[in-house]
Amino acid sequence: MSLIMATALLLQTLLLGHLEKIQMEKHINRHTELLTSFAGASRDYVTHELRPALDARTHEFILQGKSSSYVTNGIFAQFNKTFPDYSYRQPAFHPLNPKNQASPFESDIILKFQDDPSLTTVSGFRKTDDQIFYYVAHPVFVEKSCLTCHGDPKEAPSGLIENYGSTSGFQWPLGKVISATIVQVPVENEIATQQDRHLLFAASVLFLLTLFIGVHHLLFERLILRRMMQVTTAIQAMGDNVRATKQLPEESGDEFGFLIRAFNHMTSSMREAFLEMERTVQERSIALRNKTEEQADAKAAMKSLEQHNQLLLQSIGEGIYGVDMHERLTFINPVGASMLGWRVEELLGKHGHDLFHHTHPDGSPYPHTQCPVLSTLTDGHTRTLSDELFWRRDGSSFPVEYTSTPVLQDDLIVGAVVVFHDVSKRVNNS
Ligand code: HEC
Repeated sequence: MSLIMATALLLQTLLLGHLEKIQMEKHINRHTELLTSFAGASRDYVTHELRPALDARTHEFILQGKSSSYVTNGIFAQFNKTFPDYSYRQPAFHPLNPKNQASPFESDIILKFQDDPSLTTVSGFRKTDDQIFYYVAHPVFVEKSCLTCHGDPKEAPSGLIENYGSTSGFQWPLGKVISATIVQVPVENEIATQQDRHLLFAASVLFLLTLFIGVHHLLFERLILRRMMQVTTAIQAMGDNVRATKQLPEESGDEFGFLIRAFNHMTSSMREAFLEMERTVQERSIALRNKTEEQADAKAAMKSLEQHNQLLLQSIGEGIYGVDMHERLTFINPVGASMLGWRVEELLGKHGHDLFHHTHPDGSPYPHTQCPVLSTLTDGHTRTLSDELFWRRDGSSFPVEYTSTPVLQDDLIVGAVVVFHDVSKRVNNS
């Protein structure tokens, strides 16, 4: 933005500078033309007024009144007393007066007019060692009237010959350009003034630009930066703690106000979402705690039940053991174990039939495939038997009565429980 402004102002400065220069040239040109026409008027006055008036009185050649060039030069010499830098000249390649000998610069101008007869003006700037000049030149043509003095020297006024001799300034070709009226004015002041003005203008532009940028910066600072900082701080605060998110004031209706409204909307929905999430988490953890408590209660209940069973098993007077589907003992009560002559832990995992049910009372082997406990495991029927022996660890045996009951879990047989007692007393009694 500032850059565009700066460029625009710079272009304007350049353009104005250019216009200024044109204006200055016009001004100088008018200046020069004024002098030229003044000199021309002097010449015309001599030609049309002074010379004819003198001619009427005397045929004698009076230089100071009859030569327009002489008179004009003289008038200008007077003028130069006040304005020494201004110059008026009518130089020629072969002048009557050697003072009027064309310099190289003047020769160039005369040659230009000679080469192009349609050319009426040549002008431009010219820099000498200590001044800058503006010059305007017009061609000087030889007319018939001129030849009285610039034609054949034999016919020229004798007074003229006496003053200038008869070698130079004669035999001028009729209708041709032999000289140029060259008026030169100093322009250093004008240029300096113009430069001053330009400088002044550039300085004011620079000042305005600085002012503009300053104001722009200030406005930017006030309108954008400060509010931007507010938003940034708010975003940061939200990052630190979503719950504490504040709403920003929605004061303005510009793009920034838009942004703030959008931001506020976002923060409030984020906050709601966050609080909702917190609520859910809270509910879940409460539910979880309740469940854990429930589970703990159930565990405790189970434990007391287990202890209860244990006590029951220990206090009972009969033997009781459980087997899995492979007829291996999963538990046995101490009474049962001691009846068989083992300790409880020695029996767990052992094959019950092979350990203490392996032989019939008649001494023949009792294959486990014929064992009623295995039958119970297979068909799920409860069986009670009273004419069999259980064998002790020491090889002795005792008559036993036992009941094998299946253990069901979800209608599936997972094992069997065997309750047994020593019936030797009854056997002995009978
Ligand atoms: C009555 C005589 C007379 C006539 C007519 C006359 N001149 Fe000259 N002219 C002179 C004299 C004398 C000078 C020298 C003036 C001086 O000393 O500066 C001169 C000088 C000049 C010069 C300056 C160069 C030089 O030779 O010193 C030019 C250019 C010139 N005349 C052009 C003209 C033209 C163009 C006409 C005709 C329109 C004309 N003159 C008519 C007498 C005359």
